Amino acid sequence: MKFFIDTADLAQIKEANDLGILDGVTTNPSLMAKVGISGKEAVLNHYKTICEIVENGDISAEVVSTTFEDIIKEGKELAAIHPNIVVKVPMIKDGVKAIKYFTDNGIRTNCTLIFSAGQAILAAKAGATYISPFLGRVDDTGWDGVDLIAQIANIYAIQGYKSQILAASIRNSLHIIKCAEAGANVITSPLEPILGLLKHPLTESGLAKFLEDAKKFA
Ligand code: E4P
Repeated sequence: MKFFIDTADLAQIKEANDLGILDGVTTNPSLMAKVGISGKEAVLNHYKTICEIVENGDISAEVVSTTFEDIIKEGKELAAIHPNIVVKVPMIKDGVKAIKYFTDNGIRTNCTLIFSAGQAILAAKAGATYISPFLGRVDDTGWDGVDLIAQIANIYAIQGYKSQILAASIRNSLHIIKCAEAGANVITSPLEPILGLLKHPLTESGLAKFLEDAKKFA
């Protein structure tokens, strides 16, 4: 399972990249706004900087257009920033059409805002490289987001669909573990749930004891 970080915060992207386990980055307009990036030039430059930090990772850059023609135009501009850019397109009718166009023209895509198996089937049919089910937001409504990931993984295996399941809207470390069990190909998570995977009280107390005993041989 690949690990992407879900943020536009450069310090957090660097920290995750330095860990050596980072496979890519996802952002969205809300995450860009959160770090104060606004205006077309600033957004394009920010994506370029992220690509330079995570040299070998896929970087999702989201379109804010909603008509076929505008999505194509904006997506081409984003794809031109760097070969590692993956154009993130919303699960709407014109978005599905645009994903098919991008697929046919060698531009990789991430279909975002997936909340049902039906949407995941359509995105795969259109040839999306990644599809992003938002499991945390599903959980927020009282449904089980991990069940959705498992259902999509089962359908893709039965049908032989090639799109990679990119589990998004991760809220905690357990979500990451459950996504691995459910068959997600990728998780995209804020930094904290990733770092949370490191923690276990027995590791901490065990290390403290080893370090204390090591002093006896110093
Ligand atoms: C996915 O690519 C989105 O950026 C993200 O995971 C949404 O997460 P949220 O529900 O925490 O906003």
